[in-house]
Amino acid sequence: MSSVTFEQRAHIIVLGNEKGGSGKSTSAMHLVVGLLRDGYKVGAIDLDARQGTLSGYLVSRAGYADRHGVSLPMPHAISLHRSLEDSRAAAEASEAEQWSMAHRALSQTCEIIVVDCPGADTHLSRLAHAAADTLITPINDSFVDFAMLARVDPDNHAVINPSIYSEMVWEARKRRFARDRGRIDWIVMRNRMGSTEMRNKRDVGATLETLSKRIGFRTVKGFGERVIFRELYLQGLTLMDVREAGLPVQLGMSHIAARAEVRSLISAIKKPPPRAMAEAHAPAA
Ligand SMILES: Nc1ncnc2c1ncn2[C@@H]1O[C@H](COP(=O)(O)OP(=O)(O)O)[C@@H](O)[C@H]1O
Ligand SMILES: [Mg+2]
Repeated sequence: MSSVTFEQRAHIIVLGNEKGGSGKSTSAMHLVVGLLRDGYKVGAIDLDARQGTLSGYLVSRAGYADRHGVSLPMPHAISLHRSLEDSRAAAEASEAEQWSMAHRALSQTCEIIVVDCPGADTHLSRLAHAAADTLITPINDSFVDFAMLARVDPDNHAVINPSIYSEMVWEARKRRFARDRGRIDWIVMRNRMGSTEMRNKRDVGATLETLSKRIGFRTVKGFGERVIFRELYLQGLTLMDVREAGLPVQLGMSHIAARAEVRSLISAIKKPPPRAMAEAHAPAA
């Protein structure tokens, strides 16, 4: 495989797991907007172009800004579709080429690239995982979603063996390390917390901690179950825009809590500070 060195390499955040509906696209949208609002130049790659959740959101966002004459920060966005080549080898070669072109193009202008993956094992998704600096895996807050990470003993919740997805991340880590000695910081994030009953919630947390040591990820607090995480989707907005875009939405306790959850996820990501900010704070000569 050819290895390309970029003069300027963007920090890559991949949202991945092999399950639909766990919050990858929701997290991707909030990360994109939160990072933009922090002053980063952000790129967005939608690898789930078939569903088009992230790309559709960005189209709506541009439309909203246009119609209302407000200025909303936008990422540089690219959607990648699965190759339609007949042979697997040809399809994979064409996808590798597409991926590397997108990566190269965004690396020229962006400091951070957020990649939204489909909820299935695809070749494009593997390429993204193997390029990740940070991998974020949202899981719904119940044992149903644990199967994605590992098989767990139903009686004592001991880990029996890692799942296919965890094996895939292990492979991605090996590929990443072989290519540039880089390491993938894997973060598992509990999503939609609050809907399960207390005891189950505690057990989920404890089992996740055991699992994290075994499989090599860390956990962050994650998002609560809140309507604000979805109600602005059609307009292309997030709660990070409410105040800034002067929306006629009352900021309640739940919005403030949601904002704190997004902030805490952003600060958990080990990324360089935004360049614009670093320059502004540099001591005057
Ligand atoms: N924390 C949350 N609170 C409320 N709704 C959520 C939350 N996270 C996700 N959702 C909703 O769940 C559905 C699936 O989320 P999505 O981000 O599209 O998952 P994925 O991209 O993993 O398939 C969407 O309707 C989304 O609005
Ligand atoms: Mg999605």
